[in-house]
Amino acid sequence: MGPRWKKSNVAMLVRTKVNGEWKEADVWEGSSLLYMLREHLGLPGSKNACEQGECGSCSVWLDGELVCACLVLAAQAHEAEVRTVESLGEGDSLHPVQEAFLEAGAVQCGFCTPGLIVAVADLLDQESNPPETTVREALSGNLCRCTGYEKILDAVRLAADRVRDTAKG
Ligand code: FES
Ligand code: FES
Repeated sequence: MGPRWKKSNVAMLVRTKVNGEWKEADVWEGSSLLYMLREHLGLPGSKNACEQGECGSCSVWLDGELVCACLVLAAQAHEAEVRTVESLGEGDSLHPVQEAFLEAGAVQCGFCTPGLIVAVADLLDQESNPPETTVREALSGNLCRCTGYEKILDAVRLAADRVRDTAKG
């Protein structure tokens, strides 16, 4: 069933499973998923840097696929499942990718960081020991203006080690 339209004719009710919980939001028909997450659902982790699909700072999973939330309409997430950077880590414990970014010094202004962390977590879910060319390709849609990328690559190597260690138990 599609999103329910409200009387105003420009608002609609979108129902989405976000980080494991069903949520509803009354959004304008042209609202992006990013806007819905940040402004309606109180999830500011996904950043709004370009709003044009060029920087990757708004990366989330929509039904398991990595997407730029600024390019997806909120309505496209109706009855779908979204995971954001807020779903990583548990309580006070950071996800291994988050820990690796901090330890490698890969965070400066931090604007690109949530999108990169989501993209790296997605990559390591698919390939636990990716070669550098694969890492560079996977992160080519994530722009960072501060770090020069070397520390980000260090963080990915460290994160890959950590994720493999976690998997071994
Ligand atoms: S804010 Fe979505 S790609 Fe830049
Ligand atoms: S740390 Fe500033 S944009 Fe990446």
